[in-house]
Amino acid sequence: MLERLDRLPPDPILGLMAAFRADTDPHKVDLGVGVYRDDLGDTPILKAVRQAEQAVLARQNTKSYVAAAGNPGFNQAMERLVFGADHPALTDGRVRTIQAPGGCGALRLGAELIRAASPDSVVHVSTPTWANHIPLLSGSGLKLERYPYFDPATGGVNFSAMMGTLEKLPARSVVLLHASCHNPTGADLSEAQWRELLPLFKSRNLLPYIDMAYQGLGIGAVEDAFGIRLFCSELPEVTVAVSCSKNFGLYRERTGSLHVVTQTKAAADAVLSQLVRIARSIYSMPPDHGAAIVHEILDNKGLRELWGDEVAAMRKRIQGLRRDAVQQLKKFHPQRDFGFIETQRGMFSYLGITVEQVRELQSRHHVYMTDDSRINIAGLRRENIEYFAQAVAKVLAPR
Ligand code: LMR
Repeated sequence: MLERLDRLPPDPILGLMAAFRADTDPHKVDLGVGVYRDDLGDTPILKAVRQAEQAVLARQNTKSYVAAAGNPGFNQAMERLVFGADHPALTDGRVRTIQAPGGCGALRLGAELIRAASPDSVVHVSTPTWANHIPLLSGSGLKLERYPYFDPATGGVNFSAMMGTLEKLPARSVVLLHASCHNPTGADLSEAQWRELLPLFKSRNLLPYIDMAYQGLGIGAVEDAFGIRLFCSELPEVTVAVSCSKNFGLYRERTGSLHVVTQTKAAADAVLSQLVRIARSIYSMPPDHGAAIVHEILDNKGLRELWGDEVAAMRKRIQGLRRDAVQQLKKFHPQRDFGFIETQRGMFSYLGITVEQVRELQSRHHVYMTDDSRINIAGLRRENIEYFAQAVAKVLAPR
């Protein structure tokens, strides 16, 4: 039976990670997979994580199962982090949370929930969106369609085109939105645009499905959750998938959460029972370790402050790299305006070069990025930013 299977090409992002590891050139630059790096090119364990981990391990006296919905302390701490402690949806008892194996696990659980509630639902995703959104969501059996989002001419959001499409969607359509630090473009909705979208979602009865994978790495933890907090206080139903991979640096620990806001407490309880059933039928229960660490950090004043400082340092470093990249690109290729990189947020930007130029950057200069020219800004370092800009200028130079 297995003889019939075709061999598949590698995943566009994870395949690039393997290609970079195999490259032995000393000048190689990894702008591929979305992993935060420091100026030495390392992805260190955060100090807050290290300390919390030690406390968790010292206290742990069993490896028995935790609970069907995961660690309740983690779930509550995540609700407070994502929504803000006194958010009306929380105080009204209309939010249910399940711990998930990473943001990916959360996204899939949410998709399976939507499918259980309404099998013919269509999920509308931005053009472009994170490559893995497509298999994660469509793998549940839901249909996917696109709405316009990114404007390559300005490096920002083509908001009128986005509104124009969303205005025509049938009621009960699902719309996937990025809370902040849009992956892959770095172009975010402004607070004013979130406010403008709200009446449209209300009047057309659309279900927002908001993905937040970078809370704290854009403007700040509160600002980055603006859209979630607004939509969840004003709309009857919202689904929110959250990842702790980047802001807690817990990538391999697969730590995330799914939060579902419903109209009534009874609906919320039904949703949680469905989520627990879905999780049980796929992987039974989520892994404990990462969630135990996040719980420890968020419920301990000192650790929480330390973590907040570490997230702020990561954010500031990315913002500084954005400025430096623009400066260096201007120096070596003044013909093109790369200023948009500085106004965008989070870990990613589109460089706006062709796939042939991307391939040439990789083969001739050992600079790695995905084919759509998405760069992970955090992969740049003070010592290689000039090399990167020179390499880009070389592939852009007329022949
Ligand atoms: C990325 O976009 O590179 C990250 O979110 C890592 C991944 O799993 O794709």
